[in-house]
Amino acid sequence: FIPKAEGGLGGAIIAKDRLGNVIPARQILAEPTGTRALVAGLAGEPTYLTLLENNTLDSVGIVNNCTHLGCTFPWNEIDQQFQCPCHGSRYSVDGAVVRGPANRPLKLVHVAVQSEVILISPWTEIDPRTNEVPWWV
Ligand code: FES
Repeated sequence: FIPKAEGGLGGAIIAKDRLGNVIPARQILAEPTGTRALVAGLAGEPTYLTLLENNTLDSVGIVNNCTHLGCTFPWNEIDQQFQCPCHGSRYSVDGAVVRGPANRPLKLVHVAVQSEVILISPWTEIDPRTNEVPWWV
Protein backbone atom coordinates (compact mmCIF):
# COMPACT_ATOMS: atom_id res chain seq x y z
CA PHE A 1 0.00 0.00 0.00
CA ILE A 2 1.34 3.36 -1.01
CA PRO A 3 -0.39 6.38 0.52
CA LYS A 4 -1.62 8.97 -1.89
CA ALA A 5 0.51 12.07 -1.74
CA GLU A 6 1.42 14.97 -3.93
CA GLY A 7 4.12 13.72 -6.25
CA GLY A 8 4.67 10.60 -4.19
CA LEU A 9 6.19 12.51 -1.30
CA GLY A 10 4.75 10.29 1.40
CA GLY A 11 2.25 12.70 2.93
CA ALA A 12 4.41 15.75 2.42
CA ILE A 13 3.49 18.67 0.23
CA ILE A 14 5.66 21.30 -1.40
CA ALA A 15 5.48 24.77 0.15
CA LYS A 16 3.79 27.27 -2.12
CA ASP A 17 2.88 30.92 -2.09
CA ARG A 18 -0.64 32.29 -1.69
CA LEU A 19 -1.23 32.00 -5.40
CA GLY A 20 -0.26 28.36 -5.49
CA ASN A 21 3.17 28.81 -7.03
CA VAL A 22 5.98 26.63 -5.72
CA ILE A 23 8.40 28.70 -3.64
CA PRO A 24 12.05 27.99 -4.50
CA ALA A 25 13.90 26.92 -1.34
CA ARG A 26 16.73 29.36 -2.11
CA GLN A 27 14.26 32.26 -1.96
CA ILE A 28 13.27 31.42 1.62
CA LEU A 29 16.81 30.47 2.68
CA ALA A 30 18.08 33.88 1.59
CA GLU A 31 15.98 35.59 4.28
CA PRO A 32 17.76 36.91 7.41
CA THR A 33 18.12 34.76 10.53
CA GLY A 34 15.02 35.00 12.68
CA THR A 35 12.65 35.68 9.81
CA ARG A 36 9.26 33.99 10.00
CA ALA A 37 8.42 33.23 6.40
CA LEU A 38 4.77 32.58 5.64
CA VAL A 39 3.97 29.88 3.09
CA ALA A 40 0.93 27.84 2.10
CA GLY A 41 1.34 24.47 3.80
CA LEU A 42 -0.78 21.37 4.32
CA ALA A 43 -4.29 21.84 2.91
CA GLY A 44 -3.23 25.36 2.04
CA GLU A 45 -2.93 26.34 5.70
CA PRO A 46 -0.72 29.41 6.14
CA THR A 47 2.40 28.17 7.89
CA TYR A 48 5.34 29.96 9.46
CA LEU A 49 8.85 28.73 8.67
CA THR A 50 11.67 29.99 10.87
CA LEU A 51 15.05 30.96 9.43
CA LEU A 52 17.93 29.77 11.56
CA GLU A 53 21.62 30.66 11.34
CA ASN A 54 23.67 29.69 8.31
CA ASN A 55 20.68 29.93 5.99
CA THR A 56 18.95 26.87 7.36
CA LEU A 57 15.32 26.28 8.27
CA ASP A 58 13.89 25.14 11.57
CA SER A 59 12.54 21.62 11.05
CA VAL A 60 9.40 22.63 12.92
CA GLY A 61 6.81 24.82 11.23
CA ILE A 62 3.97 26.61 13.01
CA VAL A 63 0.52 26.84 11.49
CA ASN A 64 -0.90 30.36 11.38
CA ASN A 65 -4.33 29.55 12.72
CA CYS A 66 -5.18 30.78 16.22
CA THR A 67 -6.49 27.93 18.35
CA HIS A 68 -9.10 30.22 19.90
CA LEU A 69 -11.34 30.98 16.90
CA GLY A 70 -9.07 30.57 13.94
CA CYS A 71 -7.77 34.04 13.14
CA THR A 72 -4.42 34.45 11.44
CA PHE A 73 -1.81 36.42 13.31
CA PRO A 74 1.54 38.16 12.79
CA TRP A 75 4.90 37.44 14.34
CA ASN A 76 5.98 40.24 16.69
CA GLU A 77 9.75 40.49 16.37
CA ILE A 78 10.15 42.81 19.36
CA ASP A 79 8.17 40.67 21.78
CA GLN A 80 9.31 37.42 20.11
CA GLN A 81 5.73 36.19 20.12
CA PHE A 82 2.91 35.35 17.75
CA GLN A 83 0.14 37.78 18.69
CA CYS A 84 -3.41 37.28 17.59
CA PRO A 85 -5.19 40.55 16.79
CA CYS A 86 -8.70 39.14 17.23
CA HIS A 87 -8.92 38.58 21.00
CA GLY A 88 -5.36 39.01 22.21
CA SER A 89 -4.01 35.48 22.48
CA ARG A 90 -0.24 35.29 22.52
CA TYR A 91 2.07 32.40 21.72
CA SER A 92 5.77 31.89 22.37
CA VAL A 93 8.36 31.12 19.68
CA ASP A 94 7.44 27.43 19.78
CA GLY A 95 3.70 28.11 19.58
CA ALA A 96 2.88 27.45 23.25
CA VAL A 97 0.16 29.66 24.74
CA VAL A 98 1.52 32.60 26.70
CA ARG A 99 -1.82 34.33 27.14
CA GLY A 100 -5.41 33.30 26.38
CA PRO A 101 -8.20 33.15 25.55
CA ALA A 102 -6.59 30.42 23.42
CA ASN A 103 -5.93 27.36 25.55
CA ARG A 104 -4.24 25.03 23.08
CA PRO A 105 -0.81 25.40 21.49
CA LEU A 106 -0.45 26.17 17.81
CA LYS A 107 -0.43 23.26 15.39
CA LEU A 108 3.00 22.02 14.32
CA VAL A 109 4.23 20.55 11.04
CA HIS A 110 7.52 19.08 9.89
CA VAL A 111 9.66 21.15 7.53
CA ALA A 112 12.48 19.88 5.34
CA VAL A 113 14.47 21.27 2.45
CA GLN A 114 14.82 18.82 -0.41
CA SER A 115 16.92 20.04 -3.31
CA GLU A 116 15.07 23.06 -4.70
CA VAL A 117 11.87 22.91 -2.67
CA ILE A 118 10.59 22.96 0.90
CA LEU A 119 8.55 19.99 2.06
CA ILE A 120 5.89 20.24 4.73
CA SER A 121 4.47 17.11 6.31
CA PRO A 122 2.02 16.31 9.11
CA TRP A 123 3.13 16.24 12.74
CA THR A 124 1.59 13.19 14.38
CA GLU A 125 4.09 12.46 17.15
CA ILE A 126 3.99 13.62 20.75
CA ASP A 127 3.71 17.39 21.04
CA PRO A 128 7.03 18.47 22.65
CA ARG A 129 5.32 21.40 24.36
CA THR A 130 2.77 19.29 26.23
CA ASN A 131 4.39 15.84 26.11
CA GLU A 132 1.02 14.52 25.00
CA VAL A 133 -0.60 13.35 21.78
CA PRO A 134 -1.23 16.53 19.78
CA TRP A 135 -4.75 17.93 19.98
CA TRP A 136 -4.97 17.95 16.14
CA VAL A 137 -4.25 14.22 15.70
FE1 FES B 1 -7.09 34.49 18.18
FE2 FES B 1 -9.49 34.73 19.37
S1 FES B 1 -9.06 34.03 17.38
S2 FES B 1 -7.53 35.22 20.17
